[in-house]
Amino acid sequence: MIAMPTEIQDAGQLQALLERVREAPELWQGRVRFDEADRVSVSIGGNEHLEVWLICWNEGQSSGMHDHDASHGAAVVVEGQLREDLLGPGGPVASATFGEGACMLFPAGHIHDMTQVGPTRAVTLHAYSPPLQYVGRYDMGAGQLRRDAVPRDQDARYVDGWDFGHALSSAATPAHQA
Ligand SMILES: [Fe+2]
Repeated sequence: MIAMPTEIQDAGQLQALLERVREAPELWQGRVRFDEADRVSVSIGGNEHLEVWLICWNEGQSSGMHDHDASHGAAVVVEGQLREDLLGPGGPVASATFGEGACMLFPAGHIHDMTQVGPTRAVTLHAYSPPLQYVGRYDMGAGQLRRDAVPRDQDARYVDGWDFGHALSSAATPAHQA
């Protein structure tokens, strides 16, 4: 059992949590699933301060350009590779490719598009604090940039709902003591 932090002060704490989750595959490996239509997001656990997701990416699947509204976040690549594109003045700008073990930090307001690249499907772990309420979606059509705030549950293919107590404990234990 991994204790969930009850106070998040920066994305580095989310990264530390994800590293511990990555090293405990019994918490998520059996829940990996892929879908031909879209990436699949599986709830691993959460409390009122943060949430942890497993995201499974088939070849070529992408998130689309988005932000995480008021939440900051982190992700680690468990398997495969992802490319992150950022939003530049004229549209998406290729940023970097992240392979197995790489960690990405997303401060609140970070705008990006993540796409599976490489020869194998990808699996990533994500943490957000506070838990996502909305995802900002960007439309760059007709020469204008438009942002729509989309409720999280309408934004992606989420499965399993919340799963308190199954994988991660919501016990009030500071992260460094876990
Ligand atoms: Fe994101």
